[in-house]
Amino acid sequence: MQVITHLSDIKLLTEKIRATGKTIGFVPTMGALHLGHLELLRTASRNTDVTVCSIFVNPIQFNNAEDYRLYPKTIEKDVALLQENNCDIVFIPEAAEMYEQPALLKFNFGALEQVMEGFYRPGHFNGVATVVSKLFHLVKPHKAYFGQKDLQQFTIIRQLVRDLNFDLELICHEVVREADGLALSSRNQRLTPAGRQVAPRLYEALQLGTQLSEHRIPTVQEIKFKVEMFLQLYPQITLEYFEIVDAETLQPALDFTKSVALCLAAYLDNVRLIDNVILKPL
Ligand code: PAJ
Repeated sequence: MQVITHLSDIKLLTEKIRATGKTIGFVPTMGALHLGHLELLRTASRNTDVTVCSIFVNPIQFNNAEDYRLYPKTIEKDVALLQENNCDIVFIPEAAEMYEQPALLKFNFGALEQVMEGFYRPGHFNGVATVVSKLFHLVKPHKAYFGQKDLQQFTIIRQLVRDLNFDLELICHEVVREADGLALSSRNQRLTPAGRQVAPRLYEALQLGTQLSEHRIPTVQEIKFKVEMFLQLYPQITLEYFEIVDAETLQPALDFTKSVALCLAAYLDNVRLIDNVILKPL
């Protein structure tokens, strides 16, 4: 596995790979790697010739300085995990080089970023779109892999790729979960043992919403109310939002005639966790 840190080196290397006709599969990450990331990588290596993973804790996508400071950094362990999982190239740039000049370009994704994560984390998707655009230019992948766990991020990147004609295929990988249902996340490491025990209730809340929606009678509002009541049983959990949205547009769903996503964000032990499930139309 090649470890690359400089922008000029990754550009040259991926240019050379493309010139040989090989396909590049790309998994961008912020490190603190877990099985969710590794599943993306394995899918990439099954479907492309050369896999590139980037590790970069992107400062400009954190709207909270404390969250940035506390974001787990386990670079040596990450590099070993990537090596064990047949990653071909890992790109680990420095912020000083990625943002040698502060990025001035501002993205506006309209209604897509006015809900959920975009609403509660102002500036977050601008930071994501900026770094992902830079990474796409540097890595030049044929296929790029993202997780459904960050559904709104995937939706925004899909819009970015369409709007700017990035010449690549985007793949959305299903949410990888622990045996008890908790969605894998780098932030899970920051949970206390007690918090970790309560954390699977978030997925249970989504399952409750799923079950309720299978009965045609309750309205979106009734389901929202019941799911919120369920989570209120756990005082350790502070729900930020629970939304039922159109899975494509992410705008509030009125009924279940189209594919909808049940999405939530909650604080547990001061750690912000997100999760979602996508339901097929009834
Ligand atoms: P990060 O949180 O490290 O996630 C990297 C990728 O792994 C994202 O596409 C995310 O959706 C996916 N992922 C994380 N947990 C997952 C899980 N449990 N199941 C499936 N996929 C999962 O998302 C980011 O980094 C950054 O915003 C980034 C895109 C790298 C830009 O900085």
